[in-house]
Amino acid sequence: MAVLEQLTSQQAIDLENKYGAHNYHPLPVVLTKGEGVYVWDVEGKKYYDFLSAYSAVNQGHCHPKIVGAMVNQAQTLSLTSRAFYNDVLGKYEKFACEYFGFDKLLPMNTGAEAVETALKLCRKWAYEVKGIAENEAEIIVCENNFHGRTTTIISFSNDPVARKNFGPYTKGFIKIEYDNLVALEEALKNNSNVAGFLVEPIQGEAGVYVPSEGYLAQAKALCEKYNVLFIADEVQTGIARTGKLLAVNHENVKPDVLILGKAISGGVYPVSAVLADDAIMQVIKPGNHGSTFGGNPVAAAVAIAALEVVQDEQLAERAETLGRLFRIKINDYIATSSIANLVRGKGLLNAIVINDSEESDTAWNICLALRDNGLLAKPTHGNIIRFAPPLVMTEAQLMDCVNIIITTLKQFEK
Ligand SMILES: Cc1ncc(COP(=O)(O)O)c(C=O)c1O
Repeated sequence: MAVLEQLTSQQAIDLENKYGAHNYHPLPVVLTKGEGVYVWDVEGKKYYDFLSAYSAVNQGHCHPKIVGAMVNQAQTLSLTSRAFYNDVLGKYEKFACEYFGFDKLLPMNTGAEAVETALKLCRKWAYEVKGIAENEAEIIVCENNFHGRTTTIISFSNDPVARKNFGPYTKGFIKIEYDNLVALEEALKNNSNVAGFLVEPIQGEAGVYVPSEGYLAQAKALCEKYNVLFIADEVQTGIARTGKLLAVNHENVKPDVLILGKAISGGVYPVSAVLADDAIMQVIKPGNHGSTFGGNPVAAAVAIAALEVVQDEQLAERAETLGRLFRIKINDYIATSSIANLVRGKGLLNAIVINDSEESDTAWNICLALRDNGLLAKPTHGNIIRFAPPLVMTEAQLMDCVNIIITTLKQFEK
């Protein structure tokens, strides 16, 4: 078999199962092509993508402007490492800093790396600016968080699958309930070793949990009161997904440290970033942190194009309008449904809670039926299905999708 011979779905699945580590449990569909809101499998069947690579493909699959920027830069200069300067990184840093309103950007590749970067930045700031005694800094995190899969990050996860048998765990984290300001203040007061509060503005992986209105603004105010950095992980919620450029913009919050990934590249290339103002970012000195690929010219060119697309095509406004419509239509159906309990979300980051136990396979089976009906989505946890299409969707396409979702749910009514 020639290595690049066209495979059937089953052959592709068999190859991954035999030669790939089993670290994911994909829905059985093998994709070969994407364009805008659509993907195609190897047998030629067309689907609406309602996952968007976990919100990395907000600008739609293979956006020509973003792919064009990537190809152009890849043919000119792809990688220098940071041993030398390149003539794109500075332009990107200026563009992104002005775009998000920060003094400085630290470039990385994946979301988890950017979270690690933010944690290191926070600790160093704690010792060198706040004056916490060495090795005593603590960072508050939330229960049911998802910030990635590195050793440190899983140390403060409470997902047993992500944690078990990966110890010993990194110390220095305090876990509190999400969306609980009393718990936050309790953790902050009488503990001068707290350096930061790391939070997802909406808990995406946990099942699209939207905190109470005012939570983010009041959490930020508490962080200011106790001289603690408010660190927003917008890897999934950022870049127009929730109907604003950043989810914190819904409450006019400017984080001290902003973590971005996924759609900052439009999903064509791994790009992530940490942004902060000088008073914080100046603690990072040569040798403290880095990555061979972080800030490479292709990543920089791709990110500029991807962020321009967000503005040019008014993706935040589109997510806001379409998201409202989605929830209205699904809520209308839920009023008469015994299989769907609830829809929640912001912009085009939504979830439907299925009326069955967390251990049941109903949500998984609904996703298989959605696939058969031409729409790809996946359960986040047990009985919760996330619905997050590319933001370039039209209203007519969204209504078509709502129709597919409702028709599919009807197959499962008891
Ligand atoms: C909020 C959040 N942070 C961090 C990450 C990790 O990003 P990556 O998978 O690129 O490492 C994710 C991934 O889903 C995420 O949702």
